Amino acid sequence: MCPRIKDKSVQAVLQAVDIVDVVSGYTSLRKRGATYTGLCPFHQEKTPSFTVSADKGLYYCFGCGEGGDAVRFLERMENLSFSEVIEQLAERYGVPLEYEEGKGADAAGRDREARILLLLEKAATFYERYLWETSNGKAAQEYLRKRGLKEEVCRAFRLGYAPDEWRGLQRRATKEGFSDRELEDAGLVVRQSGHVYDRFRGRLMFPLVDHRGRVVGFGGRTLKDENPKYLNSPEGPLYQKGHLLYGLYQARKAIADADEVIVVEGYTDVLALAQSGTPNVVASMGTALTEAQLALMTRFTKNITFMFDADRAGTDAALRSGDLARNQSLRPMVALLPKGMDPAEVAVAGGRSAVEQVLRDKRSLLRFELEHTLDHSELSTPEGRVQAFERVRQILDRVSSLKEREEEIPVVADRLRLAPESVALLLRGRPERRRPVSPVGINKPPVPARGESALSQRLLSQATAVERDFLVAAVCHPERAAVLLQTLTPEHFADPSNREVFLGVKEAFAVLKSGAKDARAEAMAQLRAQATGDSEAGRLFVRLVLEADRGRYRAAVLEELHLRVQEQYLNRAIRGLRRSLEQGDESVETQQRLFHLERLLQAVRSSLLQLDPEEGLAED
Ligand code: UTP
Ligand code: MN
Repeated sequence: MCPRIKDKSVQAVLQAVDIVDVVSGYTSLRKRGATYTGLCPFHQEKTPSFTVSADKGLYYCFGCGEGGDAVRFLERMENLSFSEVIEQLAERYGVPLEYEEGKGADAAGRDREARILLLLEKAATFYERYLWETSNGKAAQEYLRKRGLKEEVCRAFRLGYAPDEWRGLQRRATKEGFSDRELEDAGLVVRQSGHVYDRFRGRLMFPLVDHRGRVVGFGGRTLKDENPKYLNSPEGPLYQKGHLLYGLYQARKAIADADEVIVVEGYTDVLALAQSGTPNVVASMGTALTEAQLALMTRFTKNITFMFDADRAGTDAALRSGDLARNQSLRPMVALLPKGMDPAEVAVAGGRSAVEQVLRDKRSLLRFELEHTLDHSELSTPEGRVQAFERVRQILDRVSSLKEREEEIPVVADRLRLAPESVALLLRGRPERRRPVSPVGINKPPVPARGESALSQRLLSQATAVERDFLVAAVCHPERAAVLLQTLTPEHFADPSNREVFLGVKEAFAVLKSGAKDARAEAMAQLRAQATGDSEAGRLFVRLVLEADRGRYRAAVLEELHLRVQEQYLNRAIRGLRRSLEQGDESVETQQRLFHLERLLQAVRSSLLQLDPEEGLAED
């Protein structure tokens, strides 16, 4: 669907961008030697761990591990696709773009799309001016005034008013050289037996702006008591309901700053909240969120708060959205409004303090669901409690995090008067084979909970960290590392990304053994080529490229880490062999191999003991 930008154009853009310039728009950078540092715009922090290298064109956060080049930065920051970023940068740095000639994605198609966008933009301006500058607009202004929406916020969201005529917009657009066909494609007119007339007439117009700031459609509200209340643009290539969040473009900075997005249902809710001092708000436009909408938000924050009236039908949509969010390991919250009120009413009537009050009382969506279920269950009889227990269990089952389930238990246990054993049952979550069960104290005995091995998790992450440190130390001493890397195999690395990076570094550093003059520059260039930022390994490469300059680790540290990596690997391998012996493997090879590995481990350990403690890892 999207035309492909020619590679040479992409290269030209990449040549032209200045990563410091790009990043400076999001966090303030301070020059320190060859690099710039600042507060990471991707996570909350108080001391700067975000680094930008101007000459390498890379950024990396030592706090959260986010890293890559300028394109990756904008992809993540602005939630744009690769080609969207290239187009944006091309415009910013004045680089002309050429596109591949593909089927259906020809230059003519692109021109047509550009025309439609221009038309939509002009229509938005036309409606705006009609609202604020004509006598017919007065009625709509009066309507907004009555609803407590001030001119400033209405202008920020580019509200407008459509003439109450059959061809108000159409006449104007025709004068400006747009064809009926273009008007139709833009969704601005309706065609009936060969004639076209304005789709939006006498309606208050809410431009639908995509995350790039382009007007892609409209929602038009009637000022009377007409059906439908809102008339929306038809979906087309530019406007797809499920891919747009109303208000995101205006709210994105506030969302990132607050590290929270508040999701409401309606256009007017967004305006009223923004006006009252809560600008980090978007509207789902009355339906359940889609995966695409969720992805748009999570680029800016992982903290999603739904704001709704608990007793309304809209709750359903929020609950469905909540399940979707949880499937992506997010932890959605709800802020419940006073009975029968929508966010706009609360904001207009009570102002910022009323909104803050509502937000202060927010709870996890999970807690809300449980309470909602318990409130609507018959808890005075044992049968009722069994039923409620089953419903509660189904809700908890959908939550994979043990910790989150744990937090809800006291509430449930208290209301259902459960025995601790039944509580354990609730904690188990998602077992593979589930037989119908009833809570203890009401019916049969429980199945004991299976503990999660926190210890093995912790050991694994320690091993991963040592592997990473070794790779970092390696790039600080490339010549020595080239030798040490030859002694290791991929199996020495437990973590898959570390393994991938190990192989990349080993290959890149192979040239160093030649002793050639430019060998080091060539090795670094090979690392740079793998520093992409779109995978964990890619980001680790980014880190390595930047760490090479910092030279944090001394040579002795590299030696020690080299031994530690071997020690970890041998321990793992030995544990594996012991396990298979315990499970009845009696082969001579296994026993011989175990013996061999144990001797190696001893050798590694004695080398570690001989290291001068003064030179050790303790200080770096
Ligand atoms: P609401 O009915 O809550 O509307 O629908 P609202 O935004 O609060 O509008 P006011 O306060 O009555 O002016 C929530 C959202 O659902 C979509 C719109 O996006 C609306 O903002 N909707 C609703 C439609 O698209 N069409 C409709 O007919 C109604
Ligand atoms: Mn409303």
